[in-house]
Amino acid sequence: MRDLLHPHRDPSEVLSAFVAPAQERGGDRPRVRINMVASVDGATAVDGESRGLSGDADRAVFHRLRAEADVVMAGAATVRADRYGPAKADDAVRAARAARGQTPVPAVVVLTRGGDLPWEAPLFTAADPATVVAHPEDVTLPPAAADASAVRFVGVGRGSVDVAALLAVLGAEGVAQVLCEGGPGLIAQVAAAGCLDEAFVTVSPRLVSGDASRMMRGPELHPSLRLRLAGLVEDDGFLFARYHVEAP
Ligand SMILES: NC(=O)c1ccc[n+]([C@@H]2O[C@H](COP(=O)([O-])OP(=O)(O)OC[C@H]3O[C@@H](n4cnc5c(N)ncnc54)[C@H](OP(=O)(O)O)[C@@H]3O)[C@@H](O)[C@H]2O)c1
Repeated sequence: MRDLLHPHRDPSEVLSAFVAPAQERGGDRPRVRINMVASVDGATAVDGESRGLSGDADRAVFHRLRAEADVVMAGAATVRADRYGPAKADDAVRAARAARGQTPVPAVVVLTRGGDLPWEAPLFTAADPATVVAHPEDVTLPPAAADASAVRFVGVGRGSVDVAALLAVLGAEGVAQVLCEGGPGLIAQVAAAGCLDEAFVTVSPRLVSGDASRMMRGPELHPSLRLRLAGLVEDDGFLFARYHVEAP
């Protein structure tokens, strides 16, 4: 792994420097990072899944970002398409998290309106800490949700989960770092709500074409968000960029 902004950095230190938390806090809400991978032509999925774009280095960045996060947040379509399980961490990561006062692994926070989720899957029956299912207050979830033994339900907003309100709820519970892993529909909402602090973007060395979504899918942002390049790393043809969102 090569640090393209700091070419003399020891390769063994590149990844930890790349993902190191920024000093600034998100103010009265948790800091929110997104992590997405796209092909050179901008596709975020191959055959409906993101794993076709991934590689060893991308997985390493993915896991290191998770290792830093208090919680991982994802939309239900991503959880379904990418078959999410509970977060995992090796002993070293668990020890580092314990030293920082974090849970051994980050809880996964899933947003859903309809509750069409694989309730019998380990993400909802065996996760520790329990998976947080965020849903609008005014929806009735399917009966199968009641059997999910490792879930904490949080009702926020009406019709849709209000993303800013959800982040405020998480912040009040002590969550300081949220890693949002998509998909494009959720990331667009996070950005539109003014809640995005950092973007980790992997360019996978592939051309995919097709009609897969870009990294964000939602109404155009006015004004668009200005980003500052904060890190640039290369490994096996994959480019890893880290951007800070500039204040408007
Ligand atoms: N390349 C990458 O890095 C990457 C990362 C993530 C995902 N992906 C790909 O992106 C695709 C999925 O992304 P997507 O944008 O279509 O969907 P998504 O954002 O993952 O999920 C959309 C779903 O999340 C729920 N949701 C989103 N916002 C909500 C809100 N405010 N309130 C309540 N529920 C909300 C709804 O669930 P219900 O339908 O349950 O109501 C909605 O249908 C998949 O193909 C996946 O592989 C790629």
